[in-house]
Amino acid sequence: MMKKRIAVVASGRGSNFQAVIDAIRNGTVPAECAALITDNPKAYALERAKKAGVPCRIIDYSQFPSREDYERALLSSMQEADVDLFVLAGYMRILGSSIVKAFPGKMINIHPALLPSFTGLHAQRQAVQYGVKLAGCTVHFVDESLDGGPIILQKCVPVLETDDEDALAERILAQEHVAFPEAIRLFCEDRLVIEGRKVRIQSIE
Ligand code: GRF
Repeated sequence: MMKKRIAVVASGRGSNFQAVIDAIRNGTVPAECAALITDNPKAYALERAKKAGVPCRIIDYSQFPSREDYERALLSSMQEADVDLFVLAGYMRILGSSIVKAFPGKMINIHPALLPSFTGLHAQRQAVQYGVKLAGCTVHFVDESLDGGPIILQKCVPVLETDDEDALAERILAQEHVAFPEAIRLFCEDRLVIEGRKVRIQSIE
């Protein structure tokens, strides 16, 4: 099977990006990481990319006069990257619909909640405040809805009575680092079939 080319889009710390790099390196994900794209020149993800030899593309949001100009630059950078899959790993902006439309079925995101609960920002805080007993993470295809695209994988963790937002976030993050490379592996093995809202995972023949 041909190795897929993937690009990671991240705004910050990049621990999920690191999990993907590690999984590619140890051979569990049959892919080549062709680019790290970031909107934030201070993102720690950039250090990780340099260490791993992944080419970086910085599209600095603050350098553009408008959101439209920024999105146009981001879109052309994404097109130039010429990859089979974009993975959003802590990209902290909402992607404009022109970008989402440009890569149908070719973009996945990780969200630190069991969707459709707790979309948007501070999902772990929302879970603690709501008082749920189970929380987790979701890897899903990106469509034009907010955190609403077809779900590929979910992992759950307990919420303890002593948890604050940070403690829960840490427990969820450990599962993110498992779920994200696993979903990317399934994509790279051509095993994900989108059927309406559902994603069917094909077994290996
Ligand atoms: C993760 O919790 C991810 O689910 C969310 O943003 C956070 C990014 O963390 N979308 P990191 O940058 O991958 O460490």
